[in-house]
Amino acid sequence: MFDLMGHRIFSWLEKRELSYWRSRMRVGKGVDLKKGLRVTKPERVTIGDHVSIGPDVILQAHAPIMIGAYTLISAGVAVVTANHGLDRRGLDMRPEVPAPVRIGRDCWIGAGALVLPGVTIGDGTVVGAGSVVSRDLPPGMICIGVPAKPVKPRPAPPDA
Ligand SMILES: CC(C)(COP(=O)(O)OP(=O)(O)OC[C@H]1O[C@@H](n2cnc3c(N)ncnc32)[C@H](O)[C@@H]1OP(=O)(O)O)[C@@H](O)C(=O)NCCC(=O)NCCS
Repeated sequence: MFDLMGHRIFSWLEKRELSYWRSRMRVGKGVDLKKGLRVTKPERVTIGDHVSIGPDVILQAHAPIMIGAYTLISAGVAVVTANHGLDRRGLDMRPEVPAPVRIGRDCWIGAGALVLPGVTIGDGTVVGAGSVVSRDLPPGMICIGVPAKPVKPRPAPPDA
């Protein structure tokens, strides 16, 4: 009884949290957001139509984050858009150095990948699970590793 009530309250809170993020970001139509999403400065995030954001994704938008239509962001991906000044010490490492991240349309960012400040991921590119994207990636490629590098072209869809 109490378990069921707890579950209902928890999922109600999760839904409220997701609709809060949705209302603060610029979100296209048909966008799917899963639980556990955390967003810093949501007003700087733009998400295209039919994007899917998996569970436990982190979007730290100190600078703008743009995600193109039909892109899939898998569970546990983190997108960060600022470095701390490297010449600073101590807990207050301001000023931060912000740099926008652009993820193209029709991309797939694999589970647990980390996308670093200032990078652009080309349209249609796949980033392997656990990869670290520290430099721009070209369109239409499968990119894996730390740092992520293009290893082969992404196959064309069956009906192409
Ligand atoms: C990137 C990916 C799509 C590549 O798939 P693929 O083309 O079928 O690649 P393969 O499995 O044939 O692997 C090719 C090589 O790359 C390596 N590799 C594959 N994915 C890798 C990754 N994420 N990181 C490091 N190496 C990887 C394989 O070990 C293999 O190496 P080898 O040739 O030395 O044995 C896939 O491996 C991946 O990471 N998928 C993401 C899964 C995911 O996030 N799922 C969430 C569902 S929403």
